[in-house]
Amino acid sequence: MFPLIPFVVVAYLALYAFAISIPSQSVLRTTLHREKTSLGPQSSLDSWIEQQEKISLEKLLANVAPGGSNTRDAAPGTVIASPSKQHPNYYYQWVRDAAITMNTLVILYSSHPSSYLSSKLMPIIESYATISTKIQHTPNPSGLFDDLSGLGEPKFNVDGSAYTENWGRPQRDGPALRALTLMAYLRAFNQTHPVLWTSLGGIDRFADLYSANLPANSTIKADLEYVSRFWQEPGFDLWEEVDGLHFFTAMVQLRALREGSTLAAAFGDPGAAKFYREQADSLEKTLLPRFWNVEKDHLVETLNSPRSGLDCGVMLGALHGTPSSCSISPSDSSTCNYAPYTDEILASLLAMIKDQRYRFPINTIPPFREGDADVDELAGVGIGRYPEDGYNGYETIPGTGNPWFLCTSSVSEILYRTHAYLTHSKSLRVTSRGLPFWRALVPAILSPATFDENSSEFKEALRRLKEVGDGFLAVVRRHADGEGSLSEQFDRVTGFMRGAENLTWSFGAFLEAVRAREATTS
Ligand code: NOJ
Ligand code: NOJ
Repeated sequence: MFPLIPFVVVAYLALYAFAISIPSQSVLRTTLHREKTSLGPQSSLDSWIEQQEKISLEKLLANVAPGGSNTRDAAPGTVIASPSKQHPNYYYQWVRDAAITMNTLVILYSSHPSSYLSSKLMPIIESYATISTKIQHTPNPSGLFDDLSGLGEPKFNVDGSAYTENWGRPQRDGPALRALTLMAYLRAFNQTHPVLWTSLGGIDRFADLYSANLPANSTIKADLEYVSRFWQEPGFDLWEEVDGLHFFTAMVQLRALREGSTLAAAFGDPGAAKFYREQADSLEKTLLPRFWNVEKDHLVETLNSPRSGLDCGVMLGALHGTPSSCSISPSDSSTCNYAPYTDEILASLLAMIKDQRYRFPINTIPPFREGDADVDELAGVGIGRYPEDGYNGYETIPGTGNPWFLCTSSVSEILYRTHAYLTHSKSLRVTSRGLPFWRALVPAILSPATFDENSSEFKEALRRLKEVGDGFLAVVRRHADGEGSLSEQFDRVTGFMRGAENLTWSFGAFLEAVRAREATTS
């Protein structure tokens, strides 16, 4: 029985490794040092993307310890949200931002494990695992480690100590995102060190991250126990403003439980494997369907909220709550529920774009009027968090919200991932739910039907997904500054950047969109 376990671990990790190993050609070209090239406004989007990709990685790493030039007094493994220490002060480690950022670094590492870049990334990722354990155990205003309540704490000081001021807490997406990143790291390590893994005995080497012991004393298991115990409980949303049940949170919780169930089985913890699977099934059946609003014909981010429900969090839920392998081999339909290419996500995306187009003056240059016949409903525009947003980067005043870089890039990523899905599935099935999106994309699509890969509609859909995705990255390009810096927001009237400067997540979301774009050309 016993020698079987390492084998099972290796087999599991090999099976899942493909999910994070989608090749990213650009990483080959990416170095920590960027050449100085100046790109004028006429240069192609491709060359700008290539340059901005290097800059984004460099500026992202500047916000990560150890090594980041903006993180000198931060504990190793810390991701600062932004170097901005005042107006606004974002010089903290947010559990969400850190997990999302580190996930990007794990993907970069696993794409080219023997590169110079990866030799720098490995110690960073290992420090992240260590600091994650430490902050889990740090008593904080959300609670303690012992009953797991403290794991819902959203942000910590950069030395890993608790932040004790008032805040929107708990936030229940953090443990799920952290578990997802650490599980991706385990798979990446196994994939790149199969011999080392076997000789060290993967299970023992990583007992700090996962072991069957209860009460949980390993990092991933503590997070999975937290998710299992609290997914039905309300908490603050990813924007830290509203207490309730949220689509983004539910999506990342579901994915963490599904991947956690597989991991538990591989680590010789069959009871937990079953328990996490049951929790996942229950979340999927009882909670997730409630986010589809039949009257509105789109997903809503928060249940029972007075808001419209249109929200960038819905797109982020699709992107972070489903593995990117769904676009390539959606073998297990339940793992891929609400993946980027699904009718529910595309319908919600269209509704969001339509709202944002007329909400911000910068989106209407040249001036579009609602109802103009020849307007491409999907032409690139700046996308904010949600229509009612009043946070302008410094303070909250109703009506002063702005487009965000990370949301604008995420629209591109949804469209590129949909492109990859169509390419691999070789046909386009338009249902009545998906029809408004597909008709906006390809006006020749007039009613629900299935189009095979040789049809003109299918070919046009592929061309347009890429074109429209590029249109949103062109918006990012327009509002970035000459150095390639990306703040949190760009002003709804002037278009100039505002809010926290060099926001780590802005760079990560751009890098993820570019990675998805590369998969459309391979
Ligand atoms: C800072 C939060 O991080 C942001 O999401 C929120 O909108 C503002 N505070 C206003 O509450
Ligand atoms: C405000 C955003 O709303 C939130 O999602 C993020 O975690 C923090 N800023 C830090 O970037």
